[in-house]
This record gives sequence, structure tokens and C-alpha cells, in this order.
Amino acid sequence: MNLPEFSATAEAHPNIALIKYWGDRDSKLRLPANGSISMNLGGLVTRTTVTFNDQFKDDRLLLNGEETSGPALERVTFFLDLVRGQAGINTHGQVVSRNNFPTGAGIASSAAAFAALCLAATRSAGLTLTEMELSRLARRGSGSASRSIPGGFVEWQAGTGDLDSYAYSIAAPDHWRLVDCIAVVSTGHKRTGSTEGHASAGSSPFQSTRVDQAPERLNRCRQAIEQRDFSLLADVVEADSTLMHAVMMTSVPPLFYWEPASLRLMKLIPEWRRQGLQACFTLDAGPNVHVICPAGQADSVEEQLSQVEGVMQVLKASVGPAASWVA
Ligand code: PMV
Repeated sequence: MNLPEFSATAEAHPNIALIKYWGDRDSKLRLPANGSISMNLGGLVTRTTVTFNDQFKDDRLLLNGEETSGPALERVTFFLDLVRGQAGINTHGQVVSRNNFPTGAGIASSAAAFAALCLAATRSAGLTLTEMELSRLARRGSGSASRSIPGGFVEWQAGTGDLDSYAYSIAAPDHWRLVDCIAVVSTGHKRTGSTEGHASAGSSPFQSTRVDQAPERLNRCRQAIEQRDFSLLADVVEADSTLMHAVMMTSVPPLFYWEPASLRLMKLIPEWRRQGLQACFTLDAGPNVHVICPAGQADSVEEQLSQVEGVMQVLKASVGPAASWVA
């Protein structure tokens, strides 16, 4: 069946993982080695419009105003194929996507990108899915995108298979007014993307220990969020980030994402905490340092971060809402 023209627009926010997803049990289905917890980043937005039109000869991708081909378009086509399969259509689509945050600032854009694409593409294909079904589908585009579908603080349960590996909100955005102060120390493009990284995680002798102990860290993180206990959160978030990087650095081939300024901040921030500032660090697959703090401390954290050698810019994001359609 072919469709005439149908179009839908959606917005989604990136998220920062407090307990990381690293490594897949099944890379095709993007079933994670372990569960993870994140918070959505409010104020940072990807807005995507998908149009299916039976006159289109191919899928097209316009990213931040530029016609894009190659691996990015292939990944979009793979995702549209999943949507077309569910909707029983074979119409080509045009995807127009724009981020309001700088590309290359080390903010994982794939989570927001695939969450927004998932909402826009399913609606324009005529599908009506539940939040759980949207999260499962977004996961196929990028694992962390499953966590950008629900709002606030979100847990992605590893699950046993495709049907039960999805994310849900564990606390609303206003439950705890935390801020992510992102210390940008490099704007260079990352050398090894996360898809490749997930594939090599199992080659580190530390991955199985990290995965085995993940349930205990997830419990501590969930409890810290529930009780708004910052010192409990700080300890588990920093430990989890460093464990993931230990796996990255000991994988074959090894992945070193830190720059000298990343390490400088990782040593300074616990020191600031001992001096009374409530702040903790976490790093994704890149050198930029996400500094989580209560909203009341965000100005002091930003001020202190901007004085550290190697910090080029500080971006701030509050806890963000769920992905949503734009009328
Ligand atoms: O969703 P992906 O494939 O971009 O993987 C995300 C990996 C990390 O950002 C490093 C950790 C996480 O849980 O977001």
C-alpha cells in the first residue's frame, strides 16, 4: 500500500545517563547488557518532521539544514523500515531534523534524534503506539533513545527480550530540581561512536564485573532519586561513570575518551564536594564532563567550572520532560 502525503512533527530531549548502558546482549535488537537510569535534559531540543509521500523516490534526511547522506541516512532508513513494516506501507519519507544545541558539544544527539524520529515517523505513518511501544521502537535506533521517550528521571529495564526492554519514568521532572552543567572541553567529533563501542565492550575483562554489579548500583541510584539524597547520588554516579570508562580503556581496541581537562575536572569535583559544593561528575562516550548539581548550586558550579583550564564553555540543562508531538 502507498500513502499520499502525511506529515508529523515531534520534539525530544537528549538525556544524561546516571547509571550507564554500555554493551549489548543483542546488537541487532539493541538489547542492553545492563539496565540504566538517566535524566532528560530540558532546554536542549531536537525537533523533527517526517513526511511520507508516495511521490518520493528515496528517503531523504535534512540535518540542521543540510542534505545528509552516508551512514546517518542509512541509519534513518533502517529506522523508517521498522516503522513502515509496522504500518504496512512502503512509502519513502523525508526527515527534517534540527537541534537547538551545538553539534559536537559532546551532547549525545542520537538519543533525542531517534526519540523525535520515532514519534514523528509513527504518527505520520498512521500508527498509534503506547509510550512503552514507542520506547521499545526508539531503542532500535539508538539504545539511549528509549530513555528520551518518557519524561524526567527514567529507567530503562534491560528486560529479557524485545518485548520487555523499554524505559519508563521513575520520577517527574519537578521531583528533584537538578541541573546538568556540561563542561565542554573539546568540540572535535568523537573517533569511535557508541555503536562500535558497545560491540567491543565484551572484550574488556572488566565488563562482566561491571554488568554483574549493575543491579546494586541501579538500586542505590533509584533510592537516591526517590529520597533526593545528593551524597548517595554523587557516589554512585561517579563510580558508575568511571567503571564504564575502565571498561572502555581495557577493551580491544582500547577506547580513550578523556582529554587532560576531563581528568582535571574528575579530580577537582570530588574535592569541591568535600569543601561543601554539591556537585558530581559523569562522562559519556566523549571527553566533556557533565556536572550534576541541585539547581541552587548551578550558578556557583558554572562559575567554578569556567575558571578551570581547558573548559571552553558551560551549557546548563534542567530536568526535561517527555518527548512530545508538536501540533
Ligand atoms: O544509545 P547509544 O548507542 O548512543 O549509547 C549510549 C552510551 C552512553 O552514552 C555512553 C551511556 C548511556 O547510557 O547513555
